Amino acid sequence: MQRYRNRNARTIQKRLPERNWSLRVKVAKKRLRRAIAKELGAADRRPLETATNPLFQSRFHPHSEKGPIRGYPLYQIGHELSKLPRETIGNFVDIPKLVHDLRQIPAIGTLLHRHPKLEQAFEQSVRDMIRERGIKGSKFWETAPKTYIDAIVAGGKGKPNLMNDRVGMVAKRLFGETVRPRTILDIGTFAGGTIAGAVKALSLQQRQQLRLVLVDVNERVIREYAIPTLAALGVPRQNIVVLPTSFYSAAVAFGQMRKPLHEKGLRRFAKQFKVLAGKVDLITAGAATLNFANDLQPLLQSVRVLLKPGGGFVDWEWGSAEARTPTVNIPELKKKIVTIIDGKPLTEFDAYVSFLDFWMGSPPDTYFAYPEIVKQKLWHDIEHATQFNFFDWCERNRDWTEAERLKAGGKVLADPAGFRNRAYRDGRAMTEVAVQHGLLIESLEYPFAKPSEKTTGNVNWMLVARK
Ligand SMILES: C[S@@+](CC[C@H](N)C(=O)[O-])C[C@H]1O[C@@H](n2cnc3c(N)ncnc32)[C@H](O)[C@@H]1O
Repeated sequence: MQRYRNRNARTIQKRLPERNWSLRVKVAKKRLRRAIAKELGAADRRPLETATNPLFQSRFHPHSEKGPIRGYPLYQIGHELSKLPRETIGNFVDIPKLVHDLRQIPAIGTLLHRHPKLEQAFEQSVRDMIRERGIKGSKFWETAPKTYIDAIVAGGKGKPNLMNDRVGMVAKRLFGETVRPRTILDIGTFAGGTIAGAVKALSLQQRQQLRLVLVDVNERVIREYAIPTLAALGVPRQNIVVLPTSFYSAAVAFGQMRKPLHEKGLRRFAKQFKVLAGKVDLITAGAATLNFANDLQPLLQSVRVLLKPGGGFVDWEWGSAEARTPTVNIPELKKKIVTIIDGKPLTEFDAYVSFLDFWMGSPPDTYFAYPEIVKQKLWHDIEHATQFNFFDWCERNRDWTEAERLKAGGKVLADPAGFRNRAYRDGRAMTEVAVQHGLLIESLEYPFAKPSEKTTGNVNWMLVARK
C-alpha cells in the first residue's frame, strides 16, 4: 500500500510540469482565439469560420455577386469549395499560403511566435474554417426558398430516374421474397424519389410491413411530396417516421463528431437515432451524400452503427476527376479506365466531359442552358488542351459565353456555370472511404454508362456495401 502511494506521488510529481505546460497551451489557445476574433471581426468562439474581414470575403466568395455580406452562414450556392472532398481540398485551396497570409495579421503572428506549439492547432483551425465556410449542405437546403425546392421537384416529375429504379433492384435482391417487418432509413429524402424507388420494387405485402425513417433538413418537402407518394405505394402512414434534421445528428448522437457550426440551432433527435442503432436493414441515399463531401467519416460511421449486421447501404451519386484537382490532364484522363461497359472502356475523360455537358445545360431547357456554339468551343478547347481548368475557362470566356447565352434567350445569372463547384467525389474515392470505415463493398457500378458519349450515365455511380 505504502509502495503504491509513493509510486503514485512520484508519478504525480513527474506529471506536474507537463500539466502546467498543457494549461499554458490552453490559455494561449484561448488568447489566440480571442485575438483573432477581435482582429477579424468575429465574436464567435470559432472566429476563422465566422470572420467577416475582407480577406475572407474576397478569398471565399470572389465570384458571387450575391455573396453573403457577412461571412456566415453561407446561403449562396455559387461557391467553389462546397463539395470538395476533405482529402483533396488542398489541391483547390493553397492552405500554406492562407496560413502564411493569416500569420501576417499581427495578433496571430505575435501569438504564434510566442507559442510555436500552437502552430499545429492553428493550421487545423484554418482547415476547419475552409470546410465550414465551404459547406453548402444543410443550411442551404433547410432555408432554401419554397419556389426553388418546388422547381426542382417539378423538374424531376414524370421523368424516370433510372438510378432510383436501380436502388429498387438492390432492395429486392437484399430482401428477397420473404415478408417480414423491415426498416429502411433514407438519407436526404427530398421529394422521395430514391426511397420510392426502393419501395416500388417490393411486393405489396412487403411494403405493408416496412418501417421507413426519412432524414432530411427540409421537413416540408418530405411531408408535401415524399409521404403521399410512399403512402400511395402501400406503406402505412404510421410506419413512416420523419426525422427533420441533418444526418450529422446521428453522428452527434453516437459521439462521433461535435455539432457542426453551420448547423447551429438544429434539433438533433439523439434519442431516435440511438434507438435505431443496429436495427436498420437498409440505408438508401440518392444524390444526398454529396452534401457530406467534406465529412464522410461521421456519415459512414453512423451508417455502420445504424445497420444490422449484414444490413445494406446503397448510395448513388455524381462525380468526376474534377474532385481531385481543378486542373485535369486531358491525355491522362483519356487513358484512365473507370470500368468496362459491354467490352468498351469507360474513361475518366468520358465522365469529365459528360459532367461538364450536364452543367452547361443538357438537355437545353435545364440549368444554365448554354447554346450549342458555347459548348462546341468548350469541347474544341478541351480536345486541344493538355492541362484544362474549367473554372479558368469560364472566367476567360465569361463575357462571350454570357452574351451568347442571353442571345439564345437565357436569363441573367448570378454565377455563370463555371463558377459553381463541380468537384463531386467519384465512385472510387467514395468506395475507398467506405472500406476504411469497415463496410464490405459488394459493388461499384456505373449502370447507365455509355463510353465515348456525353451522358449523365457516365458520372452516375452506385455503391452497394454491407455491414
Ligand atoms: C438532391 S436532394 C436528394 C434527392 C432525393 N434522394 C430524391 O430522390 O428525391 C438532396 C437532399 O439532401 C438534403 N440534405 C442536405 N444536407 C443534409 C443533411 N446534412 N442531412 C440530411 N439531409 C440533407 C436536402 O435537404 C435535400 O433534400
